Amino acid sequence: MWPYMTTHYGSPSAIVHSFGRAAGSAVDHSRQTIARLLHAAEEEIVFTSGATESVNTALKSILPAASTARHHIITCATEHSAVLEVCRELETKGCAVTILPVNHEGALDLNQLRDAITKDTVMVAIMHANNETGVIHDVKSIGDICRDAGVVFFCDATQTVGKLPIDLQALNIDLLAFSGHKFYGPKGVGGLYINKKHRPFHVMPLLHGGGQEYGIRGGTLNVPGIVGMANALEFAVQDMVSHQEQMDALVAAFEISLLELGDVVINGQQMNRLPGVSSISFRCLEGPPLLSKLNELLCVSSGAACSSATGKPSHVLVAMGLGDQQAMATVRFSFGRFTSTDDFNKALNHVISSIRQLREESMTWQLFKKGNLERVPGWHHPAS
Ligand SMILES: Cc1ncc(COP(=O)(O)O)c(C=O)c1O
Repeated sequence: MWPYMTTHYGSPSAIVHSFGRAAGSAVDHSRQTIARLLHAAEEEIVFTSGATESVNTALKSILPAASTARHHIITCATEHSAVLEVCRELETKGCAVTILPVNHEGALDLNQLRDAITKDTVMVAIMHANNETGVIHDVKSIGDICRDAGVVFFCDATQTVGKLPIDLQALNIDLLAFSGHKFYGPKGVGGLYINKKHRPFHVMPLLHGGGQEYGIRGGTLNVPGIVGMANALEFAVQDMVSHQEQMDALVAAFEISLLELGDVVINGQQMNRLPGVSSISFRCLEGPPLLSKLNELLCVSSGAACSSATGKPSHVLVAMGLGDQQAMATVRFSFGRFTSTDDFNKALNHVISSIRQLREESMTWQLFKKGNLERVPGWHHPAS
């Protein structure tokens, strides 16, 4: 990235001079790299400032369609707030929104999705993997349902690009959002894939301007960010299988040890989950002391990082049927490619000793253990 912040500082749109062309060719190369790794065509990748912008661009593109007869969008209760908030906004502009529920494991019922599609449905917006629980949706089947019904499928793949293989040739995905920082790239840069082969959907620019990005996203490109993101994706894909195995092994060992403590629930345990993510609820504990104790050594939160300051239970966990108190007493642990065995052991020991200490100090836990409290309020999930 460094040369594009210093020496090759030209604007990639300024193709009339060599200074601009150097930056432009770095952007072209990055676009080719990302397209190749996702099995897409170069002209199907539009650079943005991140997944939130990509989501906004994709979803708000249905607005022109909303003035005609078709104005219905289908999404899911466990989507990231980037999707849910845009859907709420679209509702105020006259679009109808169906929010599909999930079961206790975070799974979507595909028959329910099929039944929800009406003649007015323009788009289905379902994420690839959930950012809090790691639960993976069957995007192959969802894409097939949408293609059969003639409905656009937008997939928020922010959590999976660079972590799971994605072959856009093999999936019926029309639009797909991703963010560089989720696969160790820089923050503030991302992309939107727009399927140009099958009945191209007209994507409206969110930012009008100098005609950059095929007229879909105006504004001078973030060249160092784009170069960094493409490089990061190359590294992530190269080592994907070994990292996946490494993280699956860490999560399995972590979960086995915590389950031994008893009265612990792993959210989405029965599901196919993203490597390295584990959402765990601790019975009878209060959310704030739990997080502050764990965060003496770790960096964890109970829901999405961007909403952890709100003090509200996670909408994802609530949608999975957890009560407010249980959702608050839930911690999302994540491991990364740089997590060493030493880090892992320290983290596990810290979590185990913290839970033991918090339980000793908790009146609710003491009552529960003495059998004086049959059910702890707010704990709706089947106990482990
Ligand atoms: C599933 C999902 N979608 C969208 C976003 C938003 O990404 P960004 O903040 O990079 O725009 C995130 C970020 O955490 C995410 O996890």
